[in-house]
Amino acid sequence: MQVFHTAAELRAALAGQTGTAFVPTMGNLHAGHVSLVELAKRHGQPVVASIFVNPLQFGAGEDFARYPRTLAADCEKLAAAGCAFVFAPDVAELYPVPQTFTVQPPDSLANDLCGAFRPGHFSGVATVVLKLFNLVQPRVAVFGKKDFQQLLVIRELVRQFNLPIEIVAGNTLREADGLAMSSRNAYLGASERIQAAQLQRELAAIVAAIQAGERDFEALTAAAARHLKMAGWRVDYVALRDAATLQAPTPDNGRLVALGAAWLGKTRLIDNLESALGNQP
Ligand code: PAF
Repeated sequence: MQVFHTAAELRAALAGQTGTAFVPTMGNLHAGHVSLVELAKRHGQPVVASIFVNPLQFGAGEDFARYPRTLAADCEKLAAAGCAFVFAPDVAELYPVPQTFTVQPPDSLANDLCGAFRPGHFSGVATVVLKLFNLVQPRVAVFGKKDFQQLLVIRELVRQFNLPIEIVAGNTLREADGLAMSSRNAYLGASERIQAAQLQRELAAIVAAIQAGERDFEALTAAAARHLKMAGWRVDYVALRDAATLQAPTPDNGRLVALGAAWLGKTRLIDNLESALGNQP
């Protein structure tokens, strides 16, 4: 596996490739990221992973400074997973001039759900992903469904800018108690870690109720938010949306997604579960 820290080295190494499968990350890799690399490998092309903690997608007072940087351990995991190339630039390399030219996703995606609580976040994500796509020029790029709204932002970026890249979605990997794997789980104290699986349980209860025929979506999400608050969480949102558009669901929606974002102490966790409207999973 070759590791590059500059865009020039990366471009030179990839010049001879006819196609690559790309897995962008912010590092501090766990089994969920490794599963994305494995999914990328199935496309039969060399896998490129990027490791970059992107300042543009963190707001003031968010965890940019303390986000874990674990490059050596990350490279070991990527090499073991069969990754061919790693791009790990520093901030000055990826943003040699201040990035005043940014990508603004449509309001309906950028300012809703997580975007309503993290202004500018999805613009920061879309901007860095477009830069990384330009540098790597992959055929395929893999993103986790754990960041469901981000996945839809990237799909729309690719669609509206006519990028010749197939976006592949990887399933969320979970701990034994159902907690979605996330680099931010490392911030949780011991008792918070035990409590953290409640977010997934509340979303699962919404999905189970829908599959049992319940259609009062407002009541379901309000109950989940109330249960979390009663247990000490600070809830940003619990919502049910159309899984294809993230718009409000209508009775004939094929697939829904229950999404939640809430804080345990200083840690913000997000999760989501998809559901058919009928009684299939
Ligand atoms: O999902 C992430 O890790 C980041 O948002 C991404 C896509 C690598 C962009 O910085």
